[in-house]
Amino acid sequence: MAPCMYFSFMKPVMIFLLICVLATCYITTSFFAIILFLIFIVVPIVFRYSPSLQRGMIFLNYVRRPFNVNYSQPEVYGLRGTRNFYINTNDNMTLGVWHVLPRNLLDKYEKDKSNYEQLLSHGEPIVIYMHGNSGTRANEHRVQLYHVLRNINCHVLAVDYRSYADSTDVEVSELGVVTDAMEMFKWTHKRANGTPIFGWGHSLGTGIGSHAYSLLEKEDIYPNGLILEAPFTKMSDEIREYPLTKIHRMLPWFEFFIIEPVQENNIIFDTEKHLMDTKMSILILHAKDDIVIPYTLGEKLYNHILKTRVNATTELVLYDAHLKFGHKFICKDKELGNRIRKFIDDSINNAPQ
Ligand SMILES: *[C@@H]1O[C@H](CO)[C@@H](O)[C@H](O)[C@H]1NC(C)=O
Ligand SMILES: *[C@@H]1O[C@H](CO)[C@@H](O)[C@H](O)[C@H]1NC(C)=O
Ligand SMILES: *[C@@H]1O[C@H](CO)[C@@H](O)[C@H](O)[C@H]1NC(C)=O
Repeated sequence: MAPCMYFSFMKPVMIFLLICVLATCYITTSFFAIILFLIFIVVPIVFRYSPSLQRGMIFLNYVRRPFNVNYSQPEVYGLRGTRNFYINTNDNMTLGVWHVLPRNLLDKYEKDKSNYEQLLSHGEPIVIYMHGNSGTRANEHRVQLYHVLRNINCHVLAVDYRSYADSTDVEVSELGVVTDAMEMFKWTHKRANGTPIFGWGHSLGTGIGSHAYSLLEKEDIYPNGLILEAPFTKMSDEIREYPLTKIHRMLPWFEFFIIEPVQENNIIFDTEKHLMDTKMSILILHAKDDIVIPYTLGEKLYNHILKTRVNATTELVLYDAHLKFGHKFICKDKELGNRIRKFIDDSINNAPQ
């Protein structure tokens, strides 16, 4: 009877084990089911019906890194010869700005900051820097770029749009930040007294700058040029290409839950359309290992505006992936200064009258 006893002893154990396995399966599958349900059903629904979540994810203006910046002390961020000041927009916003003096003016003029504004008409080209989403004008990769531009003897004006850094804290929108970029240009234009002014947009800042400067041209105000670092064609294309939306793209309701609400919320950034018939010179820079905005979007933008802007300068520089510049570090290109200086000089010489 031994085998039978053995069997009868094993039976409850086997049943117990079987129950355990089934229970685990059940719990795990329902755990995955819950995760899948959250990712594919709840997230899209919440996203669709929350314009503030859409704005937050696109503008990332609440990400205030670096923390506790005293904007009156640009020296702390490695910027000597830099003045912090504020401008007011036509709709009563106050925007924080850093003015970085060109290298060649440092020795003579660095000390007297009350004189900086006047120096904008001294003759050195002015570059207005329009940053991308998240952070402030004090972020490291941004400061690195100011150094590159200063070293080729350009003024840099780095502005924080409304809702960023120490600028007026209001609800962010495309129209709002575009207004800020236009106002920053007009403020500069009034003081430049004919000195060439260029815009530099990075990432989301390319969408902001392109929209703003195309509107300026419609008002017969002509920027000399616009440099677009890691641009995209339009926001809907960028969302479709963004790596984090990869899994959602496979779902039939992707357009309805993710793309359409952003458009209905007036976040369009249709750079392709805005730049289509502009006259200013345009230089596009994009790294092939950019995983935030794939370089194919920069290339597509280039090909599109090259066709439509008949007599205007349109240039494209792509950086090989092995250089590892990624989304934020084209400022590390050793040749960047020379390249930009050449683009600036050529644009000034070929400017349409
Ligand atoms: C920021 O820096 C300025 C200039 O150095 C100083 O006068 C001011 O007290 C500082 N503000 C804070 C909050 O530390
Ligand atoms: C801006 O502020 C001024 C004075 O506070 C006020 O008179 C004006 O109406 C405001 N303009 C707008 C567009 O809010
Ligand atoms: C482009 O420039 C050429 C030469 O100046 C001129 O003949 C032509 O009409 C221009 N084309 C457009 C679309 O402006």
